[in-house]
Amino acid sequence: MCGIVGYIGKERAIPKILNSLKFLEYRGYDSSGIAYVKNNKVNIIKEVGKIKALENILDINIDSKIGLGHTRWATHGGPSVKNSHPHKVGKFTVVHNGIIENYLEIKNELLKNNIEFKSDTDTEVIPALLDFYYRSDKNILSVIKKTINRIKGSYAVGIICEDDINHLYAFRCGSPLIVAKDDSGYYIASDVPAILSFTNKYIILEENEIAVLESNRCEFYNLNLNKIKKEIKVFEGTYETIMLNGYDHYMLKEIHEEGKVFLDTLNYYVKDNSFKDTMINLKKYKRIHIVGCGSAYYVGLIGEYLISEFANIEVTCEVASEYRYKKVFYNDSTLVIIISQSGETADSLAALRMAKENHVDTLAIVNVVGSSISREADYTLYVKAGPEIAVATTKAFLAQATLLSLLAIKLSGKLELLKELNGIENKIEYLLNLDYRDYAKEIYNHDNVFYIGRLIDYALCQEGALKLKETSYINALAISSGELKHGTISLINDNTRVVGICTKKEIMSKTISNLKEIKSRGAYVIFITNEDIEDDFYDKKIIIPKVHDIIEPILTVIPLQLIAYNVAKYRGCDIDKPRNLAKSVTVE
Ligand code: F6R
Repeated sequence: MCGIVGYIGKERAIPKILNSLKFLEYRGYDSSGIAYVKNNKVNIIKEVGKIKALENILDINIDSKIGLGHTRWATHGGPSVKNSHPHKVGKFTVVHNGIIENYLEIKNELLKNNIEFKSDTDTEVIPALLDFYYRSDKNILSVIKKTINRIKGSYAVGIICEDDINHLYAFRCGSPLIVAKDDSGYYIASDVPAILSFTNKYIILEENEIAVLESNRCEFYNLNLNKIKKEIKVFEGTYETIMLNGYDHYMLKEIHEEGKVFLDTLNYYVKDNSFKDTMINLKKYKRIHIVGCGSAYYVGLIGEYLISEFANIEVTCEVASEYRYKKVFYNDSTLVIIISQSGETADSLAALRMAKENHVDTLAIVNVVGSSISREADYTLYVKAGPEIAVATTKAFLAQATLLSLLAIKLSGKLELLKELNGIENKIEYLLNLDYRDYAKEIYNHDNVFYIGRLIDYALCQEGALKLKETSYINALAISSGELKHGTISLINDNTRVVGICTKKEIMSKTISNLKEIKSRGAYVIFITNEDIEDDFYDKKIIIPKVHDIIEPILTVIPLQLIAYNVAKYRGCDIDKPRNLAKSVTVE
């Protein structure tokens, strides 16, 4: 997803912007660009590919005290220099994250007014509109207001106007944007990690708010152009928490933080085997809809099993992009739970808004503090995963699964189950320290891998398959084991790699008989289980320490994550930034 940075202050803007852009790389991008001011004129340098390529053509000694930077992830118009941001039309230079849904309509109107467009992007209509309104209205704030009223979609925008180079303007709707401050000046950025090497003080820009930054002060306005006061927040984590700390990749570092993440999440809600006040009371809900995308959906499936099993409540789990468009039935005792690491995923946010429009209570399970979903939900339960940089989610998934176990216990009223969570961090550490390279070696040069399991194990299969697909580009398919015979078993031959997961005694024999069928067709089977079964239906096995069912999924996911990581490493993939992927999907 695109990333935005901007700076105005006493120091040189270009080195700061380059530094911040590097911290936005994890969001995924295909090109980048910088705007700066020289001799009172805005200059733009853009390049396709990595930020290094931009750095190579940029003179970092240019003495500009104001600048904008952008990493672009192509949506409208392919990756190219002309489509990269910043975009300049007339007096206005803009960087944008999001999508302008009505850009074609606006573009056609502006073309009739002889305004020229140089790119294929939706973004270019923003500076074009600003410049168009500016011709008859020299008040930049009023021009911004008119532009906001004209565009539809999601956007976070940074602006420099050539007639007013002592100010940097920004506004947002849908896509996130923060303003930050240090002793030298002010910044705008898509997220906190981007500015953390300069400052930990930041302000969240809310929907339809406008920020006007000067080198030594900053003002905020609502859409009526009335001045508003904003709260300065302090980011709790440290710069080191987002550095690699000696690991080869963020994905590996983040997986290895899972013991701490489990404890941080647990200790935030539980003390001495009792819930603290941080856990909300959910007694009145008799029907729960869990909604999320990708891994957040798969962890939601885990929540569905745990809550329905232990709390005896009707729970359904749905993909947000489906949920938001289908007919959904609510009643007074419905709770909608939105799960999202970033708290900015467009479909999940839309699902949340849909539930709110229907006057249904909403609960957000979110990692990023202050994100849109966390702010808009009626209740928010944060998971304590800390900043997640690798595009593929790992520690946030584990934290979400931990929190869902806690919710299942809370809803069930069986508080004695809380003690089952004691000491789990040691079992996490044990699994983190196993060597998964031999398993990965069996997989990395194969084209197809199947993950099979039933019930909660099937949810884990889906997460395991997604982790492998996205990091190593191997075609990985999760199949509910009972479904094999209904078609997919025809794909099995002696070249197929299968990961079989079975952690439930009640269904052990069923999954084992499916694995036997697979084995007899020549496939290579890796068996992941918590029972030490000696048999010949598998080639290799991983034994998960035995724990109570309420917390079991957080252990089983660890080998799946580490197998995917090691396979991707053997295949030489760009593990932290897989192709075509973005960390935060803020457009539909
Ligand atoms: C997979 C992955 C994605 C996200 C999904 C939802 O590793 O990271 O599938 O889980 O895009 O993102 P959030 O949780 O930010 O809403």
